Order: sequence, then C-alpha cells, then structure tokens
Amino acid sequence: MIINKPPMGWNSWNTFGWEINDQVIRDTADIMVSSGLKDAGYEYVVIDDCYALRDRDADGKIVPDPDKFPYGMKALSDYVHSKGLKFGMYSCAGVMTCAWYPSSYDKEFIDAQTFADWGVDYLKYDFCNFPKSADPVMAYARMSMALKATGRDIVFSACNWGDCEVEKWIRSTGAHLYRSTGDIGERFSAILNNCRSQDEKIRYSAPGCFNDMDMLVVGMDGIGNVGHPGLCGDTEYKTHFALWCLNSQPLMMGSDLRKLRPEILELLTNKDLLRIDQDEECRPPMYSSIKGDNRPTFFKHLSNRQFALGFFNLDDTPGSADFRPWDIGFPTTSGIGMMLRDVFTGEVIGPVNDYMTMYLEPHDCRVYLGEWVTM
Ligand code: GAL
Repeated sequence: MIINKPPMGWNSWNTFGWEINDQVIRDTADIMVSSGLKDAGYEYVVIDDCYALRDRDADGKIVPDPDKFPYGMKALSDYVHSKGLKFGMYSCAGVMTCAWYPSSYDKEFIDAQTFADWGVDYLKYDFCNFPKSADPVMAYARMSMALKATGRDIVFSACNWGDCEVEKWIRSTGAHLYRSTGDIGERFSAILNNCRSQDEKIRYSAPGCFNDMDMLVVGMDGIGNVGHPGLCGDTEYKTHFALWCLNSQPLMMGSDLRKLRPEILELLTNKDLLRIDQDEECRPPMYSSIKGDNRPTFFKHLSNRQFALGFFNLDDTPGSADFRPWDIGFPTTSGIGMMLRDVFTGEVIGPVNDYMTMYLEPHDCRVYLGEWVTM
C-alpha cells in the first residue's frame, strides 16, 4: 500500500483524552460528513489511548472498555465505514501504553490481527514504557510486519516523538508516517517548538513516509485534554495551520468537532492551503530557516509549476517578513515574474519579480499560491 499524500482526519486525544466513548466517535463521524470536512479530504477517525480495559482477556486479546464502547469496536468501525470514512486505533510499542493500558510489546501479531478483525484502517503506535534494553527499530519493524501479515491495508503511524534518530530508520520499517516531535499543546510556543524542531528533519518527509509534527490544536478554544484557555486565538490557529500545510504535514484535527465554529471550519477546509499540503511532490520549503528566525518566509515548490510563498510573524510584536527573490535563485532580470493569490482573501497581486516585504501583526501570516508568468 502506498500512502503518497499526508493523511488527513481526526484523532480523539487532544480534546477527549481518556473521556472517549462510542457516541463521541459516531458524532464526530457524522459531523465530518455533514460539515463538508470529508469532502475536503479528511477521512480517518482515530481513537487514541484509553479505549481498553486494563487487562487482556483469557486469549491474550485487548478488550474495549464496555462502559465506553458498549457495542464493541467492530460495530463502531462498521458505522464509521458506513459514512465513507476510515477507522483508526492506537497501541504502543512498550509494555503498557502511556496511560497504562495494555500495549503491544511482544504481542504485535495477536494485536495486529485483533485490529484487522475490528476493521481498523490506521494504527497510531506510541513509545511509552518501552524497555531500555529492547531495540526500537525492531519493535516498529515487528508491528509493521504484523499489520502487513493480516492482509488488511492498515496505515502504520509510528509515534516515538522523534527519539532515537527515528528519521534515519523508520522508512525502512514500513511505517507510513511517524511523529517526529514531542506532544503538542494548545500554546503558540508548543506549535512553534514542534515546527522549529523539524528545520533540519523535514527533508526526510516524502511520499510513502511522512514526518508528523503532531495533531492540530486548531479550534480547540481552550477545551479538553491539551487545551489551554486563552493561549491561542484565531490568528494562532491560522498560522499553525499554514505552517503545517507549508510543511506538507499530516492534518489530524484535534478539536471537538461538535463545537466547530464557522471560522474554524473555513480555515480547515481552505482549498488553497489543502492543495499546498497535499501536493503530490511533498517538497520541503526553502529560503528561510524557522529555527532562529522570528519572521521567516517560506518558498515551496509545488507540482504543475505552482508554488507557495508564506510570510510569518512568529514574534509577539508587529513587524515585517521579507522575501528576497535572489535568495531562492530567482534573478530579477530573468523576464519572469510571480502571480500571487492570497489564500485567505483571494486577492491577486503581480507579476512580482522583486523584493517583497509584508507587515504582519503578532503571530499572523500571509500565504500565497503562485504561478510563474512572463513579464
Ligand atoms: C503520547 C502521544 C500522544 C498521545 C498520548 C496517549 O505519547 O505522543 O499523542 O497518543 O501518548 O497516552
């Protein structure tokens, strides 16, 4: 199975943590269809940690908690599939999950079969409580192999938080994406930390196996497991989403979709940003490093001779981000220019072939989808 675009969907962890249940998942699936999120490309509905009983059954199988999931996982996955969506679940390479539920260390083959029997299409695979003496490469390779051996197409989403130089070996294990950062929280600093940590690593992300800067906190509005009231508003959500799209990241929504505001729905379904994220070439952006730069500018080559140009102000004070065409190898005397469409307002400018400077409010950004034209 080839996963040649960064997966899009929803995951329960950011908002619901351990307070997940059958109804939340069904409601989420319903809203993904009725709101247009599914049509925009969001397809996986993923249950994270905390869905199981603390103990396995007599046959050594993981048992869904009957209080949270009274109809079992197969019935729930049937429901999700009936909506035209795909069903995802979670386990862990360690001896227990992060929240201390049964985990798949040395149980890879039995658990992979259980997930396949439940109709799982996507498995997030965490790294808590992993024995120090054991080999992480082998642990991820075993689960990947176990999933393939079921005969069911299951996206393997590794999650070892970027540890153990994972970018150097994870592709060889068969994983389709891998968390290359620590956990996100609904704080602008956490969003930036995750993005900044990929400055040198984003080049490893490519069709077949993608870096994963973690699930979105867009629209959480301070509610839930990793929510922080008052720390992010619509400007921070906009910049967070734009940074993820310019880096061709997996887009796993993390908010309570039942409370989705129209502004947030509009952002999450922005056609131009999704086109940038899902570009088949999945190239890392060039030009400005995000590491030490509080006002970076990204240039990203896209397929069909298009490109994206993003100006960011990550600072707490207003200021300008600059684009110097010669820094990306674009000579001002070449006779070509850029036609640019603002992905948020639709405003078109151009042709431009010279220095640009964008004044931006704190934490704000401006992103253009561009095409080359003859001047
Ligand atoms: C963390 C992981 C989170 C979430 C949590 C569940 O290790 O990074 O995304 O899955 O475990 O306990």
